[in-house]
Amino acid sequence: MHTLYRFLVRRGLRLSAVHPTTLIGLPGTISRDLITGRDCFIGFNARIGPKVQLGDYVLIGPGVLFTGDDHNFRTVGTPVIFSGRPPLRPTVVDDDVWIGARAIILSGTRIGMGAIVAAGSLVNKDVPDFAIVGGVPAKVIGRRFESEADQDAHRAALATGDFERRRVARKKLAPSAP
Ligand SMILES: CC(C)(COP(=O)(O)OP(=O)(O)OC[C@H]1O[C@@H](n2cnc3c(N)ncnc32)[C@H](O)[C@@H]1OP(=O)(O)O)[C@@H](O)C(=O)NCCC(=O)NCCS
Repeated sequence: MHTLYRFLVRRGLRLSAVHPTTLIGLPGTISRDLITGRDCFIGFNARIGPKVQLGDYVLIGPGVLFTGDDHNFRTVGTPVIFSGRPPLRPTVVDDDVWIGARAIILSGTRIGMGAIVAAGSLVNKDVPDFAIVGGVPAKVIGRRFESEADQDAHRAALATGDFERRRVARKKLAPSAP
């Protein structure tokens, strides 16, 4: 069932670089150039602007916003709306990142492997591997693993794919009626 759903979403949204195992909850506004690795999940009401790349096993909560890039706002004599945009910077989310509900990710940032972005955070700088970040702007509030050895063991498990897989979406993907 999910296989058909995934296929229809990819086709309907014309997502040619989304991996067939990625599950996207609708409604959502997803740029057609989105790239994903295997086994990603994007919660409903996501808004993903251009030039975003997700690694493998990325989990994105509901209502997450990848902003797209800035407008030129320092052109004297021209309103922002007519000033155009700077070149678009890529936004990269590495493997096994969890982005909590309604987080905002600014363009040009990189979220490192295994990192967690707390619900409602604003990410405006790169996030180190395995950091837990939270707040506006997001700061490191914790570490996912206690030791370097645990991080290395986790990296190795991700590389081999040798771990138990539980389903992310147990119920329907669409939001319930008010
Ligand atoms: C980040 C999170 C995973 C908790 O991680 P944790 O390591 O257990 O963190 P703690 O609860 O111990 O909190 C550590 C600190 O971060 C702060 N913090 C926790 N969540 C935060 C958030 N969303 N925004 C800002 N600060 C936050 C806590 O207040 C605490 O600060 P303090 O030390 O000054 O008291 C959790 O708060 C969260 O945001 N989960 C996302 C849930 C979600 O979006 N689910 C949708 C389904 S995908």
